[in-house]
Amino acid sequence: MMILVTGGAGYIGSHTVLALLDAGYQVLVLDNLANSSREAIHRVEQISGAEVAFVEGDVRDRALLGQLFADYDFSAVMHFAGLKAVGESVEKPLMYFDNNVGGSIHLLEAMKVAGVKRFVFSSSATVYGEPAEMPISERCPTARPTNPYGLSKLMVEQVMQELSVAEPDWQMAALRYFNPVGAHESGLIGEDPSDIPNNLVPYISKVAIGELVQLSVFGDDYNTPDGTGVRDYIHVLDLAQGHVDALRYLEKEAGLHVWNLGTGNGYSVLEMVAAFEVASGQAVPYQIVPRRAGDIATCYADSHKAATELGWRAERDLNAMMTDTWRWQSNNPKGYRG
Ligand code: NAD
Ligand code: UFG
Repeated sequence: MMILVTGGAGYIGSHTVLALLDAGYQVLVLDNLANSSREAIHRVEQISGAEVAFVEGDVRDRALLGQLFADYDFSAVMHFAGLKAVGESVEKPLMYFDNNVGGSIHLLEAMKVAGVKRFVFSSSATVYGEPAEMPISERCPTARPTNPYGLSKLMVEQVMQELSVAEPDWQMAALRYFNPVGAHESGLIGEDPSDIPNNLVPYISKVAIGELVQLSVFGDDYNTPDGTGVRDYIHVLDLAQGHVDALRYLEKEAGLHVWNLGTGNGYSVLEMVAAFEVASGQAVPYQIVPRRAGDIATCYADSHKAATELGWRAERDLNAMMTDTWRWQSNNPKGYRG
C-alpha cells in the first residue's frame, strides 16, 4: 500500500517514513523543502535499504496534487507539511494560515476528488491552550491558542470535524503531539533547524556543540518544582510508531479520532539540561532570563486513550532521547548541510 507523506523530508516526517517502510508500506514524499533537505530522504533510503519516491512541490499546488492522485493509487495521506515557528507566525499570520490551513484544505479536496479518505494530521498539544486539567486528556476542551501557528492547527482540526460530520466514511486522525525530541539511533537523521532554534532541545544541542554560547532559560518563577517550565518530551521514534498504529486503526474504523501522543511524564528545563549533560558529557552553560510570552508553566499528556485504543505507548526514556539527540548533533555538526 502506497502512502502519500507530505512534509516527509522534515524532522518528524522523515522518522515516520522510516517507520512506515519498516511496517511494509510504500511511500511517496511530497515536500517543498522549505524547511528541510533532500539529503534526509537519501539517508532514510540508506537506513532502510528501500526506495522512497520523492516529489519536490507544494501542497498548495492544486494541479500537482491532481496529477499525483491520478498517477498513484494512495491508500492514505499523512500530512506533516506545514510551518511551525510560533514567533514567525505572530509576525506573518497570513503566511501561516495560507500554508497550514489552506494547504490542508487543498489536500483534503484533492483526496475527495480521488476518493482517498484516510488522513492522518499532525496536530499539537497547543490546541488545548492554557489547559483546564493536568495531565491533559483528549476530553479536555480545546481553547484558543495564543498564536496563529497554534490556531492554524485548531482550525484544521475543526475542518476535519465538519468534514467527518458531512461525510462519515472518512477515516481521520488528529494526532496531538507533545514535545518531540531525539533522533534515529543510527545518527543519520534528526532535527536540522535552518535558523537559531526556537525549541529547547535543539538549542541545548547547539550550545553543546559550541555553535551557540549559552542557553537562555525562560523564567524560573513558574509554579513548578524548580520554577522552570515543565513539558512532556517524547522520542521522535515513539511518535513515528504512533502514526503507524493510528494508520492501522483507521484501516478498520471510520470517523475522526483524536489521540494525544506523549509519555505522560513532565520534565523541567533544568532537568533537561542536566540529562543532556549526562548523556553527552558536554557542559551546557545557561542563564535565567524573563519568561517567554505565551508559555505555560506545565504541560503533559494523559496518554491512556492511545494506549487503550492503539496499543501504543512511548517506550524510550529521557536518557535515550538525549543520547540520540547528541549522536545526531555530534555526527552532523552542520546538519544535512555538513
Ligand atoms: P519540519 O519543518 O521539520 O517538517 C515540515 C516539512 O514540511 C518540511 O520538510 C517543510 O519543507 C515541509 N513543508 C512546509 N510547507 C510545505 C508546503 N506548503 N508544501 C510542501 N511541503 C511543505 O517540522 P516537524 O517538526 O517535522 O513538524 C511536522 C509537523 O508536525 C508540522 O505540521 C508541525 O506543525 C507539527 N508539529 C510539530 C511539533 C514539533 O515540536 N516539532 C509539535 C506539534 C506539531
Ligand atoms: N525554553 C527555554 N529556552 C529556550 C527554549 C525553550 O527555557 O531557548 C523552555 C520553554 O520556556 C518551555 C520549554 O523550554 O518551558 C519547552 O519549550 P519549547 O519551545 O521546546 O516547546 P513548547 O512547549 O514551547 O512548544 C512546543 C512546540 C510547539 C507546540 C507546543 C505545544 O514547539 O510547536 O509545544 O504543543 F505548539
